[in-house]
Amino acid sequence: MTRMDAFRNRVGGLAYGGDYNPEQWDPSVWREDVRLMREAGVNTVSLGVFAWASLEPEPGKFEFGWLDEVMDLLHDNGIHVNLATPTAAPPVWLTHLHPEVFPIMADGQPFGFGNRLHYDPSSPIYRDYAAKITTKLAERYSFHPALAMWHISNEYGPTAHNEASSVNFRRWLRRKYGDLDTLNEAWTTRFWGQIYTDWDQIEVPNIPRTWMNPSRRLDFKRFTSDALLECYIAERDIVRSFRDDIPVMTNFMRFYRNADYWKWAPEEDAVALDIYPNPADADSHVSAAFNYDLFRSLKGGRPWMLMEQAASAVSQWKLNIVKEPGRMRLGSLQALSRAADSVMFFQWRASRGGQERFHSAMLPHSGPDSRTFREIIDLGREMKLLAPVAGTTSRSEIAVLFDWDGWWGLEETFGIPRSDFSYTDTVMRHYTPLWERHYPVDVVPAGSSLDGYKVLVVPNAYLIDDAGAERIIEFARDGGTVIMSFFSGVVDDRNRVRPDGYPGAFRRLIGAKIDEYWPARPHEVFAVEFADGRRATSTWWRDDLHLETGTALATYADGLLEGRAAVVENRFGAGRVVYLATLLEQSAFDSVVLDAVAAAGVRPLLQDVPSHVECSVRGDAAHEYLFLLNHSGELNASVPLEAEGTDLLTGTTVSGTVELAPLGAAVIQRPRA
Ligand code: GAL
Repeated sequence: MTRMDAFRNRVGGLAYGGDYNPEQWDPSVWREDVRLMREAGVNTVSLGVFAWASLEPEPGKFEFGWLDEVMDLLHDNGIHVNLATPTAAPPVWLTHLHPEVFPIMADGQPFGFGNRLHYDPSSPIYRDYAAKITTKLAERYSFHPALAMWHISNEYGPTAHNEASSVNFRRWLRRKYGDLDTLNEAWTTRFWGQIYTDWDQIEVPNIPRTWMNPSRRLDFKRFTSDALLECYIAERDIVRSFRDDIPVMTNFMRFYRNADYWKWAPEEDAVALDIYPNPADADSHVSAAFNYDLFRSLKGGRPWMLMEQAASAVSQWKLNIVKEPGRMRLGSLQALSRAADSVMFFQWRASRGGQERFHSAMLPHSGPDSRTFREIIDLGREMKLLAPVAGTTSRSEIAVLFDWDGWWGLEETFGIPRSDFSYTDTVMRHYTPLWERHYPVDVVPAGSSLDGYKVLVVPNAYLIDDAGAERIIEFARDGGTVIMSFFSGVVDDRNRVRPDGYPGAFRRLIGAKIDEYWPARPHEVFAVEFADGRRATSTWWRDDLHLETGTALATYADGLLEGRAAVVENRFGAGRVVYLATLLEQSAFDSVVLDAVAAAGVRPLLQDVPSHVECSVRGDAAHEYLFLLNHSGELNASVPLEAEGTDLLTGTTVSGTVELAPLGAAVIQRPRA
């Protein structure tokens, strides 16, 4: 049994609850908290996330009395604790004693006190104090009966440009390159005469007066992720050294660029996501779906934890819209549908003061007699009905490549044909038609096994290493379908242009050589004609592409590239490659993607279901659970079912057609055929 299996058994299926910050409240409130938690069906809370200053008010002077009392109280009420190490919020005394722990920002200014995450992850002083408080907590609570999980720190992310960071960066570089000649070669330091002759000459990049060396910048991104990961591992190992059977994790963020979550995931028992889809954005549930698929994929399809979301509005944007009635429930079911094993919130009780005093909570300022709390109680009831889905997952035939190295290369290293690429927008452009048509999708990093997939989607993989490129080539050779968009396979893992013409890594794969990349002027629109006569437009980018073994699925119908291929098909080994050399208008883009998927023999989960209904499935050897979620606030939906089952939310048998009211949902359990 894994640690997460044990956790699931302990909470009786799905975890439900949120961040609990009792240190902000008088102890008289704690009793009311647990009473209302029980009423809401809360079974798990994340405790002490930012409580360092309350636990260690002076250096080496610890106050655990209040936490003892809260841990006991929660345990007595059957509520499990995901106990946090409080190291995301170093106390002010620490920053006064050692101002060098403050991260220096890229502009040379210290981050300062008054927020959180004010530490340089490479600082030995910070790491030392973090280890001490972690050890104290582990000593005291490892065997407390309430302890169910360790929540290490919070949302790792600071980038620092301190002296300590440079020292750690050098150590990291030495380990990676071994000697300076190799480093100089990797960073192409002969360009602009940047050759290093001593390790001590190397510093983390600050804001340069001109462009930064792109390979140095790329390594700095990798290093920052690794330096943060070192902090996580150090704390994880401390708590593990006291007790080995409690799961340990930290909480990640949606589309977060500063940490390579593929590298982090193996170091955790479960990956956990904090996500705040903006209710003002009508499509935020689609990018949420992609993030949920990513999180399920991060640990090879294992269920993940939804660690934080908002019960209603957040408070960090200019305009903070409420989640309208029913949307919090629907968003929670959406996470569960894509293999989350928890629904947790930031936070349990709304704070009266502090930066996030208007951030919604399970228990809002208006108290238990409120819309939000009523919805929280209702959802708590449903979480119990959905307990059978815990531990189940899904597997898809389509994989989308999502890779931090590629992201950093494209967005962080400048000096490329255009500097306004958005990797996540590009990924979403590729994912959305699949989501709208109910195709299940997994997410893969460069270089991972592609066994079992029929289609691989490669959005703008500008930077990819040799092994990653080779995997994609093998996949196609062995019969897979690759859908790839422009500016892929251009540079190696050192950010050096691959030789032998663009796109160096994929020239044979796409069956074409690109002479030049032709980014478009603003407002330039090109006519494109498909082989079957359909016409479309494209913008933003064109490859000046010369077919080798490939054939044109579409050509430019005007401009200097008239008659040249805009979409290429290449039969490659036993497989097929569809390459998009320009940014097609959305409907034409969608058709290219969906035609390629259909031609590869992949079928959607359900057909003839409108796109405002999200369909997904998770299951195990015995059962599958089909989630149907109507995201429309106005439209009803009828969903034809292929087989009958039981709707876990109502306990009724459903067959034929399921009717969903606006924002309605069904979770249909069926035995595996
Ligand atoms: C998360 C964070 C929480 C809270 C929440 C709402 O990023 O972990 O502590 O700040 O956002 O803004």
